[in-house]
Amino acid sequence: METTEAFTGLECRACDRFYDPQTGTHRCVECGGILDPTYDYDAVAVDRTTFADRPFDSLWRYAELLPFERDVAVTMDEGATPTVECPTLADELGVGELVIKDEGRNPTGTFKDRGATVAVTAAVQHGASDVVLPSAGNAGQAAAAYAGRAGLDSHVYLPSRSSFTTKAMVNVHGGDLTVSGGRIGDAGAAAADGMEEHDDWYPLSSFVTPYRHEGKKTMLYELVEQREWDVPDAVVYPTGGGVGLVGMYKAAREWEALGLIDEIPSFYAAQATGCAPIVEAFEDGREEHEPIEHPDTICGGIEIPDPGASRWILSALRESGGGAVATDDDEILDAAVAVAQHEGVEMAPTAAAAASGAWALTEAGEFGDEDTVAIVNTGAGTKNADVLRSHLMGQGI
Ligand SMILES: Cc1ncc(COP(=O)(O)O)c(C=O)c1O
Ligand SMILES: [Zn+2]
Repeated sequence: METTEAFTGLECRACDRFYDPQTGTHRCVECGGILDPTYDYDAVAVDRTTFADRPFDSLWRYAELLPFERDVAVTMDEGATPTVECPTLADELGVGELVIKDEGRNPTGTFKDRGATVAVTAAVQHGASDVVLPSAGNAGQAAAAYAGRAGLDSHVYLPSRSSFTTKAMVNVHGGDLTVSGGRIGDAGAAAADGMEEHDDWYPLSSFVTPYRHEGKKTMLYELVEQREWDVPDAVVYPTGGGVGLVGMYKAAREWEALGLIDEIPSFYAAQATGCAPIVEAFEDGREEHEPIEHPDTICGGIEIPDPGASRWILSALRESGGGAVATDDDEILDAAVAVAQHEGVEMAPTAAAAASGAWALTEAGEFGDEDTVAIVNTGAGTKNADVLRSHLMGQGI
């Protein structure tokens, strides 16, 4: 395997068992825990100018802090997305500054490309021929795109509720698409059946592969660097499985440990009231979520009733001094429309949970006129234009 110098291997989040990257490929074989890539930070020789001297062209510009070298990466120059100033929204909310990290500008229109580039690179390094995953839609599209680019076959399981765009684009990328049941759990069960029949399929499911959160952590590096190392006070993130959230929290701790920043942002998980296991656990002071029995939200990407990494998510929220907030589907769609109309930024409904969550948090007094709030727009509005347009129709527009 062509790994980077400082990448040491993978550590189990549950039992601390350590794996070298060749043998540790997915979950911990002892306890089933999530594996997390680890680095020898003393071997990472970077400072602020290291990055400032590089073109802002792809997330692979942070290769020292990624498991693989850029020259073996399966990449389409994903990442390096803009951080957009939103002064009108900042005024409306009454916060000091509001920025949107616009992940809609990625190759397949969402931040899922960051996870796919690293996880598909790992699949290639492990000699896989086929990759498999269940997804609410966007991760499946990203996986099909990157697998195709790498010459791998992809097997993508989506629920019928996933958007037409994601289903269509899995086909366009040559993926083997299975649509099953209405929701993510149905797709997960069908994918498990598929894997049982094909033990050579390499799973790319979130937190089953250790590499998706690793790719997504770069959102935080970019956000801080784009603000000339001025760390935002708060980052509000639309949270389903929490892959991006724990990734960004890890990234903040890494840069703190490397002495690149002195403080970390407070992380906030935004969910929809129809499926808010993290918000409920946070408010109840619990360390782990309880699964939601009947999830129901129009925001498919965050309709995750049983997020397996909830301990990690909840500790990231608490240790960073952040929080959790849930808003209704109607408020979320209103927020998507408001952001599009006032700032021009197109947010997918799932992503707009972060905007609507930021509103609710501000109203609750969590952010004030001195604070810089960063909202992560995890996906392009055009991927769900039908849902956004229907919301207007529901208002007679
Ligand atoms: C647009 C969008 N935002 C957010 C999420 C949730 O991501 P995470 O697993 O990082 O919480 C998803 C997942 O499908 C998504 O598609
Ligand atoms: Zn373990």
